[in-house]
Amino acid sequence: MADTLTITDNRTGKQYDVPIAEGTIRAMDLRQIKASPDDFGLMTYDPAFQNTASCRSSITFIDGDKGILEYRGYPIDQLAEHSTYLETAALILNGELPNTAELDAWSREITLHTMLHENIKKFMEGFQYDAHPMGIFLSTVGALSTIYPDAKDITNAETRRLQISRLIAKVPSIAAYAFRHSIGRPYVYPDNDLSFTGNFLNMLFKMTELKYRPHPVLERALDVLFILHADHEQNCSTSAMRSIGSSQADPYASLAGAAAALYGPLHGGANEAVLHMLKEIGSVANVPAFIARVKGGDGRLMGFGHRVYKSYDPRARIIKQTADLVFDVTGRNPLTDIALELERIALEDEYFVSRKLYPNVDFYSGLIYQAMGFPLDMFPVLFAIPRTAGWLAQWDEMLRDADQKIARPRQIYIGAARRDYVPRATRG
Ligand code: ACO
Repeated sequence: MADTLTITDNRTGKQYDVPIAEGTIRAMDLRQIKASPDDFGLMTYDPAFQNTASCRSSITFIDGDKGILEYRGYPIDQLAEHSTYLETAALILNGELPNTAELDAWSREITLHTMLHENIKKFMEGFQYDAHPMGIFLSTVGALSTIYPDAKDITNAETRRLQISRLIAKVPSIAAYAFRHSIGRPYVYPDNDLSFTGNFLNMLFKMTELKYRPHPVLERALDVLFILHADHEQNCSTSAMRSIGSSQADPYASLAGAAAALYGPLHGGANEAVLHMLKEIGSVANVPAFIARVKGGDGRLMGFGHRVYKSYDPRARIIKQTADLVFDVTGRNPLTDIALELERIALEDEYFVSRKLYPNVDFYSGLIYQAMGFPLDMFPVLFAIPRTAGWLAQWDEMLRDADQKIARPRQIYIGAARRDYVPRATRG
């Protein structure tokens, strides 16, 4: 029988034919497989969802073995070369590249929403002077939920659209305010004449000049980095976004949760961790000893390895080229030589080769961010800004998907069997 899987349950000798569609079987089809009539039915055990598709999605395609990444069918290298972040965000959200009129309208829409409510500014002022900007970022995104109660109406497509525009437009402002707060500088209001990334640089770095003029190479480099980070299918933070959104929480609450997931050093915090690692290594001469330590199980080579990519991360390749352009303007980041030597040794070493560990997107992005003048703790925030487009596109797709319900995994209970309560006085 074509396109079915025949399963023999050796406990009962019964056979089952389960349909195969799109390279998967439905986990619920296994529930009919029972050892006895009162048996709950067969489940799969898949901690960390290593082999479970949780949705059908038409946004991002990844072939981890071949190192392919496409948004809506367009290869990432073509988008990085020809597109802008805002155009790519429109593509990710709507499924098609916008024409000129659509792109102009979308850019205008985003420009109109960049301001933050003054109460949000006051809210941000309450943080400690040395608060981590990612902590400020995710809390402030969550706090926007209280400013926009209309966002609760998640079944209304028009309302969803409005929140999407608000969030995409406001995350750079929140990020810039978090940065200025952490270094004790006054906040800079958005400049509507500038591009998305040009304005972001303005809100970050403007001092006393009347008009901030971003360096075109740095403005473009940041835009390319934003394109590369815009979506990455069902990663940890996107799964969090979908999972929280599946309870019908508003998008600000859901996005705060997604940003919290991104904060961790195994995910969006990895670019910050890479720089700490490079500083700790200190010099090219210390690289072999560091690699030996990692191979001995003492720590990980941060910025290496990926759950999905088992070859060179295509984003890392583009970032490496972008780094050269940025260093021409800013001067070479002195940690670059250590990174290049780490990559050279790791790509030849049996430990890394056999485990298919290659540089990921975070290995070089931190070097660029640092050369551009960002402190290390801003790195995860710089990841969260563009990923907002992906999170929202995935959230919107999830809400329109008739297959989806509130996310609720199963468990295998391995705790104590039923037992009677023991009065406190008689406990040992
Ligand atoms: N350095 C050294 N060894 C590693 C590394 C690494 N960076 N990554 C994986 N390994 C080893 C593991 O120890 C394991 O070895 P073993 O089979 O001998 O036990 C093997 O490779 C497989 O590793 P897993 O942890 O099973 O792989 P998983 O898919 O769960 O992890 C992850 C993927 C979290 C990205 C991992 O490679 C890692 O921790 N990398 C460093 C952190 C990092 O750069 N994160 C950014 C990811 S990209 C992003 O989020 C944008």
